[in-house]
Amino acid sequence: MGANKLNITWHDRVLTKSDYLKRNGHQPLVLWFTGLSGSGKSTLAHAVEEELFRKGCYTYILDGDNIRHGLNSDLGFSEADRRENIRRIGEVAKLFVDAGIIVLAAFISPYREDRERVRALFEPAEFIEVFVNCDLAVCESRDPKGLYRKARSGELKQFTGIDSPYEVPFRPELVVNTACYGVEDSVRAVLAFVTERGFLGGDW
Ligand SMILES: Nc1ncnc2c1ncn2[C@@H]1O[C@H](COP(=O)(O)OP(=O)(O)OP(=O)(O)O)[C@@H](O)[C@H]1O
Ligand SMILES: [Mg+2]
Repeated sequence: MGANKLNITWHDRVLTKSDYLKRNGHQPLVLWFTGLSGSGKSTLAHAVEEELFRKGCYTYILDGDNIRHGLNSDLGFSEADRRENIRRIGEVAKLFVDAGIIVLAAFISPYREDRERVRALFEPAEFIEVFVNCDLAVCESRDPKGLYRKARSGELKQFTGIDSPYEVPFRPELVVNTACYGVEDSVRAVLAFVTERGFLGGDW
């Protein structure tokens, strides 16, 4: 592990974030959706992305299951692997932000410390933690992937909320309560937040 840093030299880029900003018409952002499985992270992230894309924003989705097919296919669900999973995703999100893109990241990301470590990679205005808040009972009743059923029967181990912890964010920029509100209202709440706070600049 670890490259010999003596032989590694940072090569400065010619283009800067402000060059991308001028061309794209909006600042780069990370919308980091965190919450229990079935809380609605992917549903919201994809719907919000579609809306931003339609408005002409440069966007990209990083979603839990998809990234475990490729970049993180060597990782499991132990605490150490979950941490490494989030660390790598944070670094990938940073690359996209360097390219001026709005990243929508949908990961359970159960550990507060890991989310804070990702946050620390960005300028304060670039990272928006969206807590997708939904009671375990409601998530379990939705069970969109049938995973809670498997976790309850013991077929699936280390499942967040059942036999693996979820640490609620202390100070997320935004909380969306998906147990009380429908998908449309929840999407609207996220879009209203990013537009009203001026993250996208101009008239939206
Ligand atoms: N307000 C809401 N926002 C988002 N999803 C909702 C809402 N109300 C109900 N749902 C439903 O809840 C389910 C959420 O599933 P989704 O796959 O988005 O969860 P997830 O948080 O991405 O889970 P996982 O961590 O397993 O990927 C969907 O079936 C969706 O239609
Ligand atoms: Mg998902």
